[in-house]
Amino acid sequence: MNHFLDIHKTEAADLRSMIDQAGAMKRARLGRPKAAPDDEQPLKDRMVALIFEKPSTRTRVSFDVGVRQMGGQTMVLSGNDMQLGHGETIADTARVLSRYVDMIMIRTFDETVLTEMAEYANVPVINGLTDRSHPCQIMADVLTFEEHRGPIAGKKVVWTGDGNNVCSSFLHAAGQFGFDLTFTGPAQFDPEEEYMGFARQKGSKIVIERDAFKAVEGADLVVADTWVSMHDAQSAKERRHNLLRPYQVNAELMRHAKPDALFMHCLPAHREEEATSEVMDGPNSVIFDEAENRLHAQKAIMRWCLGA
Ligand code: CP
Ligand code: NVA
Repeated sequence: MNHFLDIHKTEAADLRSMIDQAGAMKRARLGRPKAAPDDEQPLKDRMVALIFEKPSTRTRVSFDVGVRQMGGQTMVLSGNDMQLGHGETIADTARVLSRYVDMIMIRTFDETVLTEMAEYANVPVINGLTDRSHPCQIMADVLTFEEHRGPIAGKKVVWTGDGNNVCSSFLHAAGQFGFDLTFTGPAQFDPEEEYMGFARQKGSKIVIERDAFKAVEGADLVVADTWVSMHDAQSAKERRHNLLRPYQVNAELMRHAKPDALFMHCLPAHREEEATSEVMDGPNSVIFDEAENRLHAQKAIMRWCLGA
């Protein structure tokens, strides 16, 4: 049994196998109705708890559909409606859930909720986003990049705006999959030093460039995310927007990247803020492939977690 807590905590060879298996499973069910079962049913008789302490569309639906396609069943739980949200410890929650379900996916705020859940659960725990990382998203993004452009190793990824949880997982992936990452955004929102250090130590070139136009030169992939994440105070919105506005991904910025540079956004997006609709709906945008690939990537992650 394996926990899937973060990309930098998972062996690179395992990550590679998951991406390859995700692609193969996707191809194997091309054109089938969404609820049609996969030929293999590795989650047959398995029950999976999906816990959400923050809102979600993609994570919730893609995990639920993925489990069902592989023959398992799900239970979607809102943190607020559980005793977890009313004082029961994470450790006790983890021990109790382990008696009912075969795997737990949790989306939460503080990363320690996830790590404590993993420490006390005796079933696999999957990170469905914390304030600090979003590994399932970046597994889907690596799959998406490689479907369109081949191996991501050696490529240049440019992260624009806020060096947030999704950016952190991109840095982990840079180290594990061997690509370079340039961050362009205001100094207040630089990515975590620890994570830049991880990627550098693995041999990736990690650069901070305050000028967005310079940053995207030679980029194979340009990425944007919301300027105000779910864990950020809404009261900081105006200040954040003022600081982050120069980093909007628009057609002019994309013209400074390689002509075939892809554009990604994990969604949900605030159109005309972090990115314009012209870019989001343009020919180089793969935002909806990313969303679809959450399903395929997570199916491979769940199989790896259960050894199934
Ligand atoms: N990208 C992503 O995780 O979306 P949701 O918040 O809708 O799950
Ligand atoms: N950075 C965003 C990602 C949402 C999927 C957030 O944490 O709100």
